[in-house]
Amino acid sequence: MTKIQPLLTPYKMGDLLLKNRLVIAPMTRSRSNNKENEPTELQVKYYRQRASAGLIISEGSQISKRAVGYVNTPGIYSEAQVKGWKNVTGAVHKENGKIFIQLWHVGRVSHPDFHNGELPLAPSAINPNSKSFTPNGFKETVTPKEMTLEDIKTTVEEFKQAAINTKEAGFDGLEIHSSNGYLFHQFFNKCSNQRKDEYGGNIENRARFFFEVLDEISKVFPQNCVGVRFNPSMHNIHGIDVDKETIPLFEYVIKKLNNYNIAYVHLSEPFTDVSKVSYAVENIVAHFRPLYNGTLIINNNFNQEKGNTVIEENLADLVAFGKLFISNPDLAERFEINAPLANWDVDTFYSDTGKKGYTDYPFYSEEL
Ligand SMILES: Cc1cc2nc3c(=O)[nH]c(=O)nc-3n(C[C@H](O)[C@H](O)[C@H](O)COP(=O)(O)O)c2cc1C
Repeated sequence: MTKIQPLLTPYKMGDLLLKNRLVIAPMTRSRSNNKENEPTELQVKYYRQRASAGLIISEGSQISKRAVGYVNTPGIYSEAQVKGWKNVTGAVHKENGKIFIQLWHVGRVSHPDFHNGELPLAPSAINPNSKSFTPNGFKETVTPKEMTLEDIKTTVEEFKQAAINTKEAGFDGLEIHSSNGYLFHQFFNKCSNQRKDEYGGNIENRARFFFEVLDEISKVFPQNCVGVRFNPSMHNIHGIDVDKETIPLFEYVIKKLNNYNIAYVHLSEPFTDVSKVSYAVENIVAHFRPLYNGTLIINNNFNQEKGNTVIEENLADLVAFGKLFISNPDLAERFEINAPLANWDVDTFYSDTGKKGYTDYPFYSEEL
């Protein structure tokens, strides 16, 4: 008898029963190239094709006009956007899939070109010296505006409203994008947060904005349907660097999350080689698993074998696959029969090419 692959076993996450342990990692695809930045029939098809995953996490979706930082990404703040997403969630549910939205605020990675010349918001006025993907092509980032207490309050409210909209749009849950160098990460790390008030300084202060948002969202959205994402060892990307307080900060945050009843903690292994980076942790899942009692999703560079192993070793409950799901809409079925996997085309990841490299990757049955 062949052994059932751990990745293909069901998993109960809060009140949701996931049919397998494969999660689609959130992936920006820049296909909302319409006036309202709303998801259209194209996104409906893309997500419907991938509904056999245990859980879909949507592409990062800006919570407000102020939160945007990439061209043609969808939002979740206008009526048209909510309507567009409703079509997506309806299609996924029809296929018996589950879908969370990723709520996104890029902070200082944005550019004045998105904001009629106004500066992007950030915890401190420190330029990440990175690139911003604007309507006018890639541009150098600028020195952002340090958020006032009023700006922070407004942003917390925007997240809360986005959670209300998420419910309206029919999602099974939401993921706070507290990862990859965007707004929350900018509050977490010392290099981007030099504030002197209660949102800067010690670890607890730098985590305050994140917990305020989580608390506010929890007032309007079931907490056991809220996930969070972290990339603790991300280094030298978007101006984020690991220092000696970085890992202790994530330890503090993740331990504190044991007091909450959230859906999951979603962690990324380092995006780059950090073996020579002082204070970085190389094996994220091994380091953080013992600190957290709830559901853990692990991501970055996993394949079928590594995914099955990490679950078998009880280091994670679910595995998020990114690029493999771009080119293999039926990844779960392919794993089941050990079918060959299709390669992805990097050139069409974010390009304005509509269905090309988006909804035209075949199912294995079609390939045959
Ligand atoms: C095209 C593309 C878009 C991405 N967009 C997002 C995003 O919107 N939000 C996010 O948290 N991560 C984003 N990521 C990172 C992925 O979620 C994931 O961490 C990364 O692809 C590594 O996983 P993989 O090796 O399985 O592809 C993106 C990655 C790719 C390739």
